[in-house]
Amino acid sequence: MTRELKEELKAFFADFGPLFETREENIYLVTAYEVYMAMRPLLVPGARIADMGCYTGALVAWLATKHPECQVFGFDRDAEAIEVAKELVTCPNVEFAEWDYLSDASVPVSDCDIVVSTLGTDFTIDDFTWECSLDTANLGASEFCRRRVGEALPYFQKWRGVCKPGGQLIAVLRIKNVDHHFSIVEAAHQAGWSFDAAQSRLLQIAERPFPLVRFAARESRMPSATEIMGSWDAQEGPLQAGQVLDYIPALVVYESLSDKRVLYCEDSPCTDGPHTVRISVGVAGDIGFVFQRFTTGYAELELISPNEAEECAAQMAA
Ligand SMILES: C[S@@+](CC[C@H](N)C(=O)[O-])C[C@H]1O[C@@H](n2cnc3c(N)ncnc32)[C@H](O)[C@@H]1O
Repeated sequence: MTRELKEELKAFFADFGPLFETREENIYLVTAYEVYMAMRPLLVPGARIADMGCYTGALVAWLATKHPECQVFGFDRDAEAIEVAKELVTCPNVEFAEWDYLSDASVPVSDCDIVVSTLGTDFTIDDFTWECSLDTANLGASEFCRRRVGEALPYFQKWRGVCKPGGQLIAVLRIKNVDHHFSIVEAAHQAGWSFDAAQSRLLQIAERPFPLVRFAARESRMPSATEIMGSWDAQEGPLQAGQVLDYIPALVVYESLSDKRVLYCEDSPCTDGPHTVRISVGVAGDIGFVFQRFTTGYAELELISPNEAEECAAQMAA
């Protein structure tokens, strides 16, 4: 059965370009097969799967054909490969997009259940050494590890943005030694993935080590700065006229009144020292506001009715 599936995969991938020459121990074929076997139990109807670094779409096409009830996305920075993928793969449950996940471009899909990558990274090995630390307590402290964490972090952050909480990342990575492996897990952890050691293992392909790693997207992500600041002195319930917010909540609420219409705004010197105050009056939805921010750091937001705000702005402008 395993042998038959391998042969079928090999024949299927033969149409997808030079990476998939059908010689024995082709690392791309083997990694795709191993990733497919690892993800197979997760391929339930409705599952959304994303291939990070899909090249000409071989794995995407295989998944979409074998599991027509799943939605499959393929991303690659190689525009030509994506063009070829779009020509070769016409399954209705497939979408391809050109995307370099190290770029600033925003994540093209989210809420995937499974994120996979078969060697879709460019981890550098310029300072690679076969000498690795034998002191496991010190692994993460080495300069080698810290650099590798910095290099891997953007990948895991972008991939985490594609996945929904509780979703799975299954990847085969080009990693050189145990220090590098340690760094990858550290970077993934920082990016919101929990390492699943029991489901991860080292593959030997053409006598070279390729770790197959598995992570779960943690439920909790790092809260945004606004959320953290907002909880400093959180106000209960919806905003109401008559409320006065001081310091950080004032700033946070003011900035989050995103559709605000500022009716009046002025910077003026303070009488009690060399400071200035910015006062702005406006309306946001069904709330009026008066916002004062002093260069000393103090900020106050007073919520009033929209009519009061209109009157207040007119008086100040007069
Ligand atoms: C070995 S191929 C993947 C093959 C494919 N997953 C399959 O099995 O059919 C690795 C791909 O990763 C892509 N890749 C590497 N770094 C990338 C990045 N930063 N953003 C997008 N794609 C990247 C490369 O362009 C390459 O096509």
